[in-house]
Amino acid sequence: MTHAVSAPLAASRSGALTGRLRVPGDKSISHRALMLGALATGVTRIRGLLEAEDVINTARAVSALGAPARRVGDLWEVLGRGTGGLRQPEAPLDFGNSGTGTRLMMGVIAPHDMTVTMTGDASLSKRPMRRVLAPLKEMGLEVEGDADRLPLTVRGSSRLVPIAYTLPVPSAQLKSAILLAGLGTAGETTVVEREATRDHTERMLRHFGAKVESVAEDGVTRITIRGEAELEGREVTVPGDPSSAAFLVAAALIVPGSDVTIEGVLVNPTRTGFYTTLLEMGGDVTFLNAREEGGEPIADIRARFSTLQGVTVPAARAPSMIDEYPILAVVAAFARGATRMEGLGELKVKESDRLAATAAGLAANGVKAEVDGDTLTVHGAGRVPGGGLVATHLDHRMAMSFLVMGLAAEQPVTVDDTAMIATSFPEFRALMDGIGARFEEGDL
Ligand code: S3P
Repeated sequence: MTHAVSAPLAASRSGALTGRLRVPGDKSISHRALMLGALATGVTRIRGLLEAEDVINTARAVSALGAPARRVGDLWEVLGRGTGGLRQPEAPLDFGNSGTGTRLMMGVIAPHDMTVTMTGDASLSKRPMRRVLAPLKEMGLEVEGDADRLPLTVRGSSRLVPIAYTLPVPSAQLKSAILLAGLGTAGETTVVEREATRDHTERMLRHFGAKVESVAEDGVTRITIRGEAELEGREVTVPGDPSSAAFLVAAALIVPGSDVTIEGVLVNPTRTGFYTTLLEMGGDVTFLNAREEGGEPIADIRARFSTLQGVTVPAARAPSMIDEYPILAVVAAFARGATRMEGLGELKVKESDRLAATAAGLAANGVKAEVDGDTLTVHGAGRVPGGGLVATHLDHRMAMSFLVMGLAAEQPVTVDDTAMIATSFPEFRALMDGIGARFEEGDL
């Protein structure tokens, strides 16, 4: 998918941000709902699917694999083909900017007798795929030319062998790819996790009727799926994305006088490390009306302007807030004292090298910060000079994080490109405008 031409935007110091709103559906859950819907028999109906480029690319991919996904009124419907029932697509599958779509789909494709070429944009084509391909190859997937980057061509097989695999990196994408391959493989496939990563795949597989066991023992979790199980089409409700809500919550905390409530946000503990950290920093964040929706915990999140202190964020928390470090770094710049974020190695292989890009964005806006190995330390001074131009490197979260910075900085903050925001949060601009954020289209 090609993106709109680069569109710079400046964010300026705003008055109090106020309002009650919802954010769009969770990206991780949306990808999984489409994929499991395609692998189930019968119709899956999805309420609240995230209609952003990354997820739309997954919808196109499952459709091209013979399981049509389309919007019907308020819902999305997927007509499933059953476990092992997908068919050879006629053209390469284009995943745009989405690592999740690509990596999970490798697991979906693996147990099928078909050859599929996968492509993506310039950012995705730089990201490592070997971490996923290595275990899938052990199971029997073939990869043309032993490639590690997109574009690449994989050949699946209906006779994969089950494996037991210890994740070398804490990656839910990797875990999910193996479990999805295991779903179509006779026997039991086991993934061993040393650090808990988001568990939406396990939860949703169970929701669709698969047998998935998670056993925590001796400091690791062993997740086992019984293969060649039949899934049945289900109703899925997608809660609000906590990674999108993070930008609104952050903005409310740093803009004086703000008071913002976001309704129906996913608060699965494998996703809430950012919120835990904000509370430790002294952030006025409250969780209201906690309830369950579609097998996932949700709540309304209220955030009010706060005086914040720097904290140390331990490496063990990284998987539960892996996408939130750029926005946490922005919040930390407005706190007093140092915020030390440890164990950020995985940030280097996201949509951009987020460790380097975040440090550069902070520096461009007069914030003292340093990177030491996998640790980022931001020296908060309670104020941010701003005035900088931030390079977003085809990365939606870089763009949104630094726009939020501009809402409370002394001088406007400009990001070089906002087109990529559509990959995860197309409503960002309108929702932020609605609570009082000041943005201005600019020339570079
Ligand atoms: C995701 C897992 C994370 C995260 C990504 C979505 C998922 O990646 O960064 O945005 O849906 O499984 P890793 O699991 O590779 O860290």
